[in-house]
Amino acid sequence: MVDSAPSSTTGAGRLTLAIPRETVPNETRVGLVPDAVKRLSKTVDIIVESGAGTASSYSDQAYIDAGATIVPDAATLYRQAGLVLKVQKPQPDEVSLLQPGSALIALLQPQVNIDLIRQLAEGNVTALSMDAIPRITRAQSMDALSSMSTVGGYKAVLLAADFLPKFFPMLMTAAGTIAPAKVLVIGAGVAGLQAIATARRLGAVVESYDTRPVVKEQVESLGAKFVEVDMTGIEGETQDSGGYAREASPELLRRQQETLSNRAIRSDVIITTALVPGRPAPKLLSEDTISQMQPGSVIVDMAAEAGGNCELTVPGEVVVRHGVTLIGLLNLPATIPFHASQMYSKNIENLLALLITKEGQLNLNFEDEIVKGTVITLDGEVVHEATKALLQPAEASS
Ligand code: NAI
Repeated sequence: MVDSAPSSTTGAGRLTLAIPRETVPNETRVGLVPDAVKRLSKTVDIIVESGAGTASSYSDQAYIDAGATIVPDAATLYRQAGLVLKVQKPQPDEVSLLQPGSALIALLQPQVNIDLIRQLAEGNVTALSMDAIPRITRAQSMDALSSMSTVGGYKAVLLAADFLPKFFPMLMTAAGTIAPAKVLVIGAGVAGLQAIATARRLGAVVESYDTRPVVKEQVESLGAKFVEVDMTGIEGETQDSGGYAREASPELLRRQQETLSNRAIRSDVIITTALVPGRPAPKLLSEDTISQMQPGSVIVDMAAEAGGNCELTVPGEVVVRHGVTLIGLLNLPATIPFHASQMYSKNIENLLALLITKEGQLNLNFEDEIVKGTVITLDGEVVHEATKALLQPAEASS
């Protein structure tokens, strides 16, 4: 068992950071970009698998110029790796390449991928998960969930504009006046706020709804209208003490669906981003509502990965139902890989500033709540409290 404040330091010698090519189909991002290599290579050695940055427009030569060494394949990379930096969780063939005693940083979703976490612990790999970084003010510059939501929210609007058979802006032309598109954004967290800002820049008339009343001001400051749901008798149940959304009660869900249905049938575009951490996405748009929307309207369901906010979403696909285009495409950040990688890389670099000593060694200081919250496995054990709680009781207490 690891006590409350362990500290893990690698042995003598500079740490070797290793950047593999992502192997999941359509994953175009890379864990570290050349700009970060330039700064980090003063302290650590950096190896990059040939072609790791190609899909995000970072060439091998750019990595070499920044101070990295290119290695020909994944096997060579993992053999030399002290700390592997990647985007997606390792796939089975990558897990078998990870060396005992090495470390890994990626988006692991530990509470969903519990078998993988068990394997990493058994393989004596120290695993840190970018999505486990506590969402506190000091960790904002490391918050990959926020940076990737920003990319996704922007792209969702561009997709909607592309599929919509209408303009977004109001146009006054010799051929007549075009009314602006009406956009409804459901869920005004990081992705939703970015979607509002992007739709406004394109000239649409935007309104938005979120269960957390505190976001009303943010929505309005972006030039959108905040949709109010009648909360009489059910006030105060929409967010937890940390400011995150609570799962809506059946009564709240009913009132939300009723209000949103009225707004939805008047909208040209709906972007849905409503998520509740650790729970399936709330179903906010029914088939009945969609059947009443104007033909040609577009819904982009950014909650598709968690089951979708819309009853008819098909995760991973674009489908047309009742004349409405439903976009359930996954991993939108990977469609803007240059900047998504740049932002993710900056998040990682900021985290590394807490993990790597001036001498270029890995040092995990569990006195730091960011480090403590982010390390999932250490010394052959699962140390992340929330993940540990999901292991078999016998295993967790052994
Ligand atoms: P998220 O991706 O978990 O959820 C998206 C949005 O859906 C949230 O705004 C949530 O309130 C909303 N939602 C949930 N159920 C809903 C329903 N039934 N109807 C309508 N909307 C519903 O959240 P995200 O974007 O990752 O973060 C949410 C908030 O957390 C941020 O706006 C911010 O206030 C806070 N945060 C704080 C950070 C920090 O201090 N470091 C970093 C990131 C976020």
